[in-house]
Amino acid sequence: MNKNKFYITTPIYYVNDKPHIGHAYTTIVADVLVRYNRMLGKDVFFLTGTDEHGAKVAEASEKASKEPKEFCDEMSAKFKMTWDSLDISYNKFIRTTDKEHEKAVEKFFLILKEKGAIYEGKYSGLYCVACEKFITEKELVDGQCPDHKKEPEKISEKNYFFKLKDYLEKVKDLIEADKIKIEPEQIKKEVLGLFKQNLEDFSVSRESVKWGIKLPFDKSQVFYVWVEALQNYISAIGYENDQEKFDQYWPADLHLMAKDIIKFHAIYWSAMLLAADLPLPKTIFAHGFFTIDGQKMSKTIGNVIDPNDLVKKYGADATRYLILSQFPFGQDGDIKAEKFDEQYNTDLANGIGNLVSRILKLAQSIENSKAKIDEKIKEKTLNIWQEYEEAMNNFKIDKSLDSVKSLVDFGNKYIDEEKPWKLKKTDQDKFSSLMISFLEMIRQMAFMIQPFMPNISDRIVEQIGCSDDKKLPFKKIKGWKKIDIEKIKEGMILFPRI
Ligand code: MSP
Repeated sequence: MNKNKFYITTPIYYVNDKPHIGHAYTTIVADVLVRYNRMLGKDVFFLTGTDEHGAKVAEASEKASKEPKEFCDEMSAKFKMTWDSLDISYNKFIRTTDKEHEKAVEKFFLILKEKGAIYEGKYSGLYCVACEKFITEKELVDGQCPDHKKEPEKISEKNYFFKLKDYLEKVKDLIEADKIKIEPEQIKKEVLGLFKQNLEDFSVSRESVKWGIKLPFDKSQVFYVWVEALQNYISAIGYENDQEKFDQYWPADLHLMAKDIIKFHAIYWSAMLLAADLPLPKTIFAHGFFTIDGQKMSKTIGNVIDPNDLVKKYGADATRYLILSQFPFGQDGDIKAEKFDEQYNTDLANGIGNLVSRILKLAQSIENSKAKIDEKIKEKTLNIWQEYEEAMNNFKIDKSLDSVKSLVDFGNKYIDEEKPWKLKKTDQDKFSSLMISFLEMIRQMAFMIQPFMPNISDRIVEQIGCSDDKKLPFKKIKGWKKIDIEKIKEGMILFPRI
């Protein structure tokens, strides 16, 4: 067993439209956790990608007058390009149209069929294409799907079904006992509440849909898009194809998503894995849904934000920061896009940027490189690390950012109080002691912001001549050291004011 590994996934996003800030949110959070775990020295595998089959994507390609595959190629490339511009450090970008994925799905279902978990039946009912899921009369509002305000389609066709009911009890027990840890606690409660509803066996195939992976045991049907999408988590790491790699990373340590798709993951996916005799994911974390400036994101309102526009204006690092720092991670919240400029100037240009440039400028006047350490700066920094790590380890990433912010505030305030620009003329020893300690504080701060703003972090450590520290084990990174002042460069502007 590879105990030191960290396998994390995002949802694979539908390619019916280009990526928006909602998809970016989950993906950036995943990247932050990934970079943090890499800094801890773990063997990280970070998976993201695109979900390309099904009625919804087929309809979108028809609208665009393109063949489905050609359409998917273009849209999937847009996701990839967006993640690249946001510096998302995925290890693999999977597409459900990849041959390896298709093969893995076929094998997975042949196994489920052999084990007797699949049977043939007939489905009659309502289907919402926008949700890509069946919907009951009871769930409709004025005859429409409440999420998409569209009338569902009536479907009646032969389908294959998965014996969900056979596994429900076991899945429930595992969730209750945190063997599959559902986080946050509120979402776990909601998931457990779902077991009180009458959960039926679900259909795994479609007769009427053409754009999909054909069932290996009945070529007149394609897999239901949701059912085959879930297998991306195993096909991407070599399921039934590269056993060594599969054993290295499976089970997933963390499936990350928003709460809209928790049922598919916590219940359906777990049940299918049990049926296939595969280990279950360790943690499933479902964060909240956000609005933009108080309104639901929608094309009609015209408030859908393209993350690429933000990157053009603020750069990748600041965009990551602005998106993540809006509301507590996990909960529902509001992104105050109207305030981005103001927040950028306050937190980044005047906050981190100003602190680093002040310190680097003053550090040029250090005369006594052997001056003693300023204990107040050292203690504050080490305390902040504790807060930061505890928050990170519990997925409270906004809290980690708050800790960094308080370190920056402390730094700026302490400089104002101690007035080193005066000290350098009156008390060179005290001045040197202060500045040497501040230099080390910003080295440590640079590593704290590394998961959030990797480029800015690199630039800071480069300016203080510590680029090699990136290779150090985590313990050493946060161990207090003395910076070699000969290697310091004069500060440059990290965040130009907007
Ligand atoms: N294709 C499925 C997932 C299959 S995973 C095996 C799907 N795709 S999606 O394109 O609709 O992406 C949904 C996900 O996008 C959410 O779970 C969340 O990660 C992200 N978000 C989309 N809009 C969002 C908000 N407004 N707020 C928070 N997250 C958002 O479902």
